[in-house]
Amino acid sequence: MYIPHTIFDLSIINNVLVFEETDSTNTQAKHFADAGSVPGTLLVADSQTGGRGRLGRSFSSPANEGIYMSLLLKPELEVSVLSRITLVAAMAVCDALDEIPGINASIKWPNDVLINEKKAVGILTEFHAGEFVIVGIGINVNNSSFPDSINGIATSLLLETGCEQDCTDLLLRVCYYFDRYYQQFCQTQDLSFLLDDYNRRLTLMNKDVILIPTEQTVKYENSYCIDPEGYEIVHCEGLMKDGSLLVSKADGTITTVDSGEVSIRLSK
Ligand code: BTN
Repeated sequence: MYIPHTIFDLSIINNVLVFEETDSTNTQAKHFADAGSVPGTLLVADSQTGGRGRLGRSFSSPANEGIYMSLLLKPELEVSVLSRITLVAAMAVCDALDEIPGINASIKWPNDVLINEKKAVGILTEFHAGEFVIVGIGINVNNSSFPDSINGIATSLLLETGCEQDCTDLLLRVCYYFDRYYQQFCQTQDLSFLLDDYNRRLTLMNKDVILIPTEQTVKYENSYCIDPEGYEIVHCEGLMKDGSLLVSKADGTITTVDSGEVSIRLSK
């Protein structure tokens, strides 16, 4: 992928590395961090042979069909707020996607962006060596089909609009919005500035959801099942400025849930 020099107008980007093929741009970002690469490095690949997602899942990364990018950052932020960067990135991606006619992106808290209820984007934020944050974003852009394992739950911009999209243009827009949101976030270290917009995009908003403690999600023959013991149905009241979700329980009590503790599914 060709990345124009205008990318350096953004304050967070100092350096760009483009790979025709790599294992994972997040993994490469860690290697480059260890080798002394400057924070503010953007890594982009045309394809990944080992694209990674949350909870040890893989991320399908076929050549020239998607955007596979990682931003290597070294934020001067408290460790406790770093996971909020995933939510900042999700908002940036949504704003960039919404510039494409016919697209209305929503967020499956905390790290997926959906179009028409199917996953078009995954975000994997990783912390490295105690000082680096790597924000990995994978966007299904011009995929005309998906592997059987995700067919039916994944979509692409091509499938949703009927038109091929320009990956470079979209990547620049994602970086532009991320730069803006990230700078705002770094000033306050909380998410108050985007709460209303985020809650408008939140797929779980005002819905009954199943809270599944992370340890109840068990891997079985390459797919994930819910251990039926111990999950709970609650009502989602929206995002809090600390990045947690506010939920109300059947007994009327209100509590917050953190992405580290639970995964969440819509209750059908
Ligand atoms: C998920 O779906 O759980 C997150 C997927 C994140 C995929 C992106 S693609 C670029 C970067 N490199 C990776 O290996 N993963 C992220």
